[in-house]
Amino acid sequence: STNQLKTLLDKRAEAKLGGGQKRIDTQHAKGKLTARERIELLLDENSFEEFDMFVTHRCTNFGLEDQKYLADGVVTGFGTIDARLVYVFSQDFTVFGGSLSETFAQKICKVMDMALKMGAPIIGINDSGGARIQEGVTSLAGYAEVFQRNIMASGVIPQISAVFGPCAGGAVYSPALTDFIMMTKKNSYMFVTGPKVVKTVTGEVVTDDELGGAMVHGTKSGVTHFIAEDEQEGLLLIRKLLSYLPQNNLEEPPLSVCLDPIDRFEDSLNTIIPENPNKPYDVKDVIHAIADDNEFFEVHRHYAPNIVVGYAKFNGQPVGIVANQPSYLAGVLDINASRKAARFVRFCDAFNIPIVTLVDVPGFLPGTTQEYGGIIIHGAKLLFAYGEATVPKVTIILRKAYGGAYDVMSSKHLRGDINYAWPNAEIAVMGPKGAIEILYQKEYMQIENLEERAQFIADKTEEYKQKFANPYNAASYGYIDDIIEPRNTRFRIIRALQSLATKKVVNPPKKHSNLPL
Ligand code: COA
Repeated sequence: STNQLKTLLDKRAEAKLGGGQKRIDTQHAKGKLTARERIELLLDENSFEEFDMFVTHRCTNFGLEDQKYLADGVVTGFGTIDARLVYVFSQDFTVFGGSLSETFAQKICKVMDMALKMGAPIIGINDSGGARIQEGVTSLAGYAEVFQRNIMASGVIPQISAVFGPCAGGAVYSPALTDFIMMTKKNSYMFVTGPKVVKTVTGEVVTDDELGGAMVHGTKSGVTHFIAEDEQEGLLLIRKLLSYLPQNNLEEPPLSVCLDPIDRFEDSLNTIIPENPNKPYDVKDVIHAIADDNEFFEVHRHYAPNIVVGYAKFNGQPVGIVANQPSYLAGVLDINASRKAARFVRFCDAFNIPIVTLVDVPGFLPGTTQEYGGIIIHGAKLLFAYGEATVPKVTIILRKAYGGAYDVMSSKHLRGDINYAWPNAEIAVMGPKGAIEILYQKEYMQIENLEERAQFIADKTEEYKQKFANPYNAASYGYIDDIIEPRNTRFRIIRALQSLATKKVVNPPKKHSNLPL
């Protein structure tokens, strides 16, 4: 009847208002969008189907029984991004500060279960004051139910978290368990304990931003993978990210039509490496030059910039790119770079995304800070990730590949499938200067005449360079499959990837590996 229909429409309208117009206005005044506006921007137009609009909390403590809001502070459902199915939940700060209740958690769990069952990505938009204080343990239980699902979904479906508001206490661990975190420059912060507790316990005085803002997590902790100018940009970036990813671990990433000629010569690459081996260049220029339409979607841009990771396409095929960055700390591997790249390589491997590695690495960063921090364990993570990965692996040595770092960076010996080098590559235990010091210091210190000494060092350096500061020695062992002309790198990578499309390698059965954590 019209009455029943009216009830439905009224209830829907009520649910859509969340905590009411006044709180929506406050949300907007902070420069934030509402939970529903975010979903509208994230998904294809009119594709959203909502679940559980009529759910309310069941709490009777502290007078909460008289305070109920339809949907209970989280908007959940499914829709599409570029016509591909995704599940979403979006926390509504206008209802009890987006705090998580028992039923709120159940709503999230429902869409996570469905995402896993259907093999579709799950995207969570976080904006919450944490556990709903009035509920006590049922709220905490709710968090853990979500965590358990994050864990089960890990490596099965892509999980993406946007943090567009506060995310504190237990709430941080769901995003932490997901594959990617997106934060905005303003209004977005994550911490296990907030500034007030920090002050009480340690006496330290910090602001929300200093403790857990986007820049802090983007540069210092590496917790966030992306920093967006604002929510609109953040949501667009999530759409873009998904264009490189398969729906689940049993599918291949989506191929797209490539209009960029696959055999496009890039003459600039023949001269991009400076004559002086200690001079830097920007490896991102190489990536842009070789990728389809010069496009590179960088992940973790601000964290450990001595290694660059992100997605690109080659002839329409999405790949993960890992590249040492000579223009920052000479591209050394350190703790942060190793962790960053290891996590990226493992994500690619879990989701059938081939890995292209561009190598220019002078070695591991020396020093007590690194050793005390456990560079041995963290460096091992990257080594482990490459060695364990069974996706197609194409490696190009652009310049230096020194020492243990040569092994780590997707070498032939860690099952690199196709390994090429540019003609100026140097593959050796270390650079000429260090090597000559260790091998000949005693000898040359005995030469009294300084000119003669310099000549001796120059001769030995030249001998070393002839022997090792080139790719031919490695190629003579078959460790390098070919030495390629830099300007033709794009074509050679595309050919290599094509040949590897049917690759099948299976690791021995095991419960799981014991990655050095
Ligand atoms: N449980 C229940 N209600 C909560 C809540 C929580 N964890 N966090 C916020 N709220 C409510 C507030 O009571 C307020 O209700 P009202 O609109 O009816 O007045 C509303 O959400 C908005 O909160 P408010 O504090 O006014 O917003 P703010 O933008 O000034 O501050 C926070 C946001 C998140 C910093 C602040 O609410 C806060 O510190 N919350 C508690 C965080 C926490 O320690 N949670 C437990 C961690 S697991």
